[in-house]
Amino acid sequence: MFRLYDNPASPFCRKVQVLLHETGQTGDVETIFAVGHPLDTGRLPLDHNPLGKIPCLLKADGAALYDSRVICRFLDMRAGAGLYPENALWEVLTLEAMADGIMDAAVLMIYEGRARPEPIRYPDWVEAQWAKIERALDTGTARWAGLLAGDLNIGQIALGCALGYLDFRLADRDWRTGRAPLAAWFDTFGRRESMAATAPKA
Ligand code: BEZ
Repeated sequence: MFRLYDNPASPFCRKVQVLLHETGQTGDVETIFAVGHPLDTGRLPLDHNPLGKIPCLLKADGAALYDSRVICRFLDMRAGAGLYPENALWEVLTLEAMADGIMDAAVLMIYEGRARPEPIRYPDWVEAQWAKIERALDTGTARWAGLLAGDLNIGQIALGCALGYLDFRLADRDWRTGRAPLAAWFDTFGRRESMAATAPKA
């Protein structure tokens, strides 16, 4: 049995949860609710991950695995699920990295409003994060069509979770406008049982 420090709003945690569903491993993991940020670390797994970040997976021997990329790779290997296809490995990993970067930028935008006191918020910095996301989405539409159309892989899961987070926390930014192919892909991908079962919750 594994223990997973998790938060149902986190897109990084959702990656792990989607993978658990897709690979039939949900019954092997006990989920522990974790919440916080660098200024409020009270319910983060600092004893297991010195960075305090989630997701963090504890193996039966107590060893901790983090971050989401390491955990996903570990669980894929454990299940022999093939979400990291050898013939497209570097492309799939790069798509995953891009999707994780979208999540990073979006979470930073949210935490700027949540954790930083009003007088020292920096709107230009927030907009620069959004510009990063827009560039990534435009690249995504053009570059990743082949990978998105193929068999399920970790890049698809990561991108699905990143887009789901934009809908969850940044819906007013309307990422779909001008990106019909990506929107259509997400419309289909988002109907997977694993995505429906892991929809983000505040
Ligand atoms: C959120 O509430 O948006 C959130 C929670 C945990 C990690 C990342 C984001």
